[in-house]
Amino acid sequence: MERDVRVGVGAVPDGGALVVPVDAELTLAVFRLGERFYAVDNACPHKGGPLAEGAVEGTVVTCPWHGFTVDLGTGRCPRNPWLRVRTFAVAREDDTLRIVIPTGP
Ligand code: FES
Repeated sequence: MERDVRVGVGAVPDGGALVVPVDAELTLAVFRLGERFYAVDNACPHKGGPLAEGAVEGTVVTCPWHGFTVDLGTGRCPRNPWLRVRTFAVAREDDTLRIVIPTGP
């Protein structure tokens, strides 16, 4: 099972992120790096800091709370691979991004 979240491409700042609430348990951070888009859980795997507010270098975002880093492609922290956020597939359809959220078991 899955569901889609749709976001306008123009709403995502290049080099930054858009916060997209999904439900009570999930808020996405949708990043744009040029023509590449990434969607991850906005909650940092360390203590839940807002990854969307972090600085991005390459494909790595630095959490603004305590400086842990997360690779947007893998969801893993390069220095602490046991720390990981959920990543979600993003498909661009013209001016819309479709983000697939798996649901259920
Ligand atoms: S909450 Fe992100 S580094 Fe601590």
